Amino acid sequence: MDPIIRTRGLTRRFGELVAVDGLDLEVARGEIFGLVGPDGAGKTTTLRMLCGLMDPTEGSAEVAGFDVAREPQAVKDRIGYMAQRFGLYSDLSVRENMDFYADLFGVTGAERSDLSRRLLAMTRMEPFRDRRAGQLSGGMKQKLALMCTLLHRPEILFLDEPTNGVDPVSRRDFWTILYQLLKDGITILMTTAYLDEAERCNRVGLMHRGSLIRCDAPEALKLAAGAENLEAVFIRTVRAAETAGGS
Ligand SMILES: Nc1ncnc2c1ncn2[C@@H]1O[C@H](COP(=O)(O)OP(=O)(O)OP(=O)(O)O)[C@@H](O)[C@H]1O
Ligand SMILES: [Mg+2]
Repeated sequence: MDPIIRTRGLTRRFGELVAVDGLDLEVARGEIFGLVGPDGAGKTTTLRMLCGLMDPTEGSAEVAGFDVAREPQAVKDRIGYMAQRFGLYSDLSVRENMDFYADLFGVTGAERSDLSRRLLAMTRMEPFRDRRAGQLSGGMKQKLALMCTLLHRPEILFLDEPTNGVDPVSRRDFWTILYQLLKDGITILMTTAYLDEAERCNRVGLMHRGSLIRCDAPEALKLAAGAENLEAVFIRTVRAAETAGGS
C-alpha cells in the first residue's frame, strides 16, 4: 500500500472530552475511503486535523507527505475540504460562487475558464450556471460546493457528509462524479451517514467515541460480522462497543 494519508495515535481533546482517541489510519493513494460512525464519534474532528485546520493534541498525521501540525499550509495547498456546512453565497449565482472560490485559490485566466467549463460539464450544472445558489435544490447545492472545492485542483478530497439530505437520484449522480474523480487519480476520504454509500467505498472505517473500531473493505467487514449489509455490521458493532464500554 502507498499511503497518502497516515495517522499515528492521532488524538484531539476538548477539555475532558477525547473527541479523537489514538487514531491509526492509512488511506492509499487513489482509493475512496469512507468514515462512518454515530453522531459525535469524532469524524469531523478527524477531517479537520487531516486538513491542517485544527492541531492534534497528541499523535501525528501525514497528508500528501506533509505533517499536518508542522506544515499545515503545504497540506492545505494539496487538498480540497468540503465541510459539513460548506459556505455558499445564496445571493450569488453558481458562476459567481465558483469565481469567488477561484479568486480565493488564485486560479485565474484561461486556467479558470477551462476548469470551470469542465466542472460544469462533469456535474451537468451548465444549464444552471446563472441560477442563484439559494434557489438550487439540495443536490445541486452539494454539486456546487463540490465544484468550488475542486477549483483548488486537490490531490486529496475530504468530504464531510457530502450527500446529507440529498435525494437518492441526486446522490447517485454525485457518486458518478466521485468515480470520475477517482479515475482522474484523486484520493477521496469521506464521511457519510448512509451505509449504502459506505458500501461503495474501497474501504470503510467505523468510528465510535473517537476510536476506529473496524477498518476494512465492505465485503470483509460483512464476512467477519456474518452480516448481509454494512448497516447490520454497523449496528452490531456499535452495540457491542457500547455494552463493553458500560453504557
Ligand atoms: N470545537 C469543539 N469544542 C468542544 N467540543 C467539540 C468541538 N468540536 C467537536 N466537539 C465534540 O467532539 C465530539 C466529536 O465531534 P465531531 O463533530 O468530530 O463528531 P462527528 O462524528 O463529526 O459527528 P456528526 O456525525 O454529528 O457530524 C463531540 O462530542 C463534539 O461535541
Ligand atoms: Mg461531523
